This record gives sequence, structure tokens and C-alpha cells, in this order.
Amino acid sequence: METTRKNFGTATLVAALLAGACLVSTAARADVAAGEATFKAKCAMCHGADGKGKEAMKTGDLASADVQKMSDADLSGMITNGKGKMPAYKTLTPEQVKDLVAFIRSLKK
Ligand code: HEC
Repeated sequence: METTRKNFGTATLVAALLAGACLVSTAARADVAAGEATFKAKCAMCHGADGKGKEAMKTGDLASADVQKMSDADLSGMITNGKGKMPAYKTLTPEQVKDLVAFIRSLKK
């Protein structure tokens, strides 16, 4: 009897912890689909919908090793602060920037 109650308590605790962990990881995980939507709305006119770049805009392939070797922090910084002809996107939320970086990572061959 004593053991049964203890096991039930442990199982409830484990279930609660797992549910909590799932909620936290869902909130923290970058959303590639959301990043793609933002990319199509704000970035595709210069980078192409698939991120491969446009000759006329002199944008390179975001899937290239040169871009992919940049750290998440470098990519986030580039998107937020701009560089050369790349405009600064200071109105994006940190969440949107993180999703954009996740989308750029998903382009990697
Ligand atoms: C007005 C055109 C334009 C728009 C819009 C634009 N970019 Fe860019 N982007 C550029 C250009 C041009 C470069 C190259 C800058 C350089 O190297 O001087 C660049 C570079 C980059 C780079 C670095 C890659 C590299 O080759 O150094 C990333 C990452 C990037 N853009 C992401 C984005 C994202 C994400 C968005 C949307 C939020 C966006 N860009 C919107 C023009 C644009």
C-alpha cells in the first residue's frame, strides 16, 4: 500500500516534469517555418525565396559555406545591424531573428 502510493506520487511528479520540459523546449525552439515566412516577406526580394541570392542585388548564396560558417551571433548581428547594402532590421523581435537564423541554417546543403 505504502509502496503503491509512493510510486503514484513519483509517476505524477515525473509526468509534471516532462510536461514542463516540453512547454519550455517548445517556447525556446526556433521556428524554421516562421523564419521562412518572415524571410519571404522581408528578405526574398533581395536574397531570393530560396536564399540562393540574386545576381542584380549582389547577394550571395545563404546556403554557401561562407555564410554557414558564420556563428548564430554573427548572423543575428548582420540581420539586426545590416552590412553594406544589407539593410538593418532593428524592428524584428529577437524571436524573429532567431527564427530567421534557423531558416538560414535549414538551407545548408
Ligand atoms: C535591400 C536588399 C536586401 C534585403 C531586403 C535583405 N538583404 Fe541580406 N544582404 C543584402 C546584401 C546586398 C548583402 C551583402 C552585404 C555585403 O556583404 O556587403 C546581404 C547579406 C546578408 C547576409 C550575410 C551573407 C553574406 O554573404 O555576407 C545575411 C545572413 C542576410 N543578408 C540575411 C538577410 C535577412 C535574414 C533579410 C531579411 C530580414 C535580409 N538579408 C534582407 C541585401 C538585402
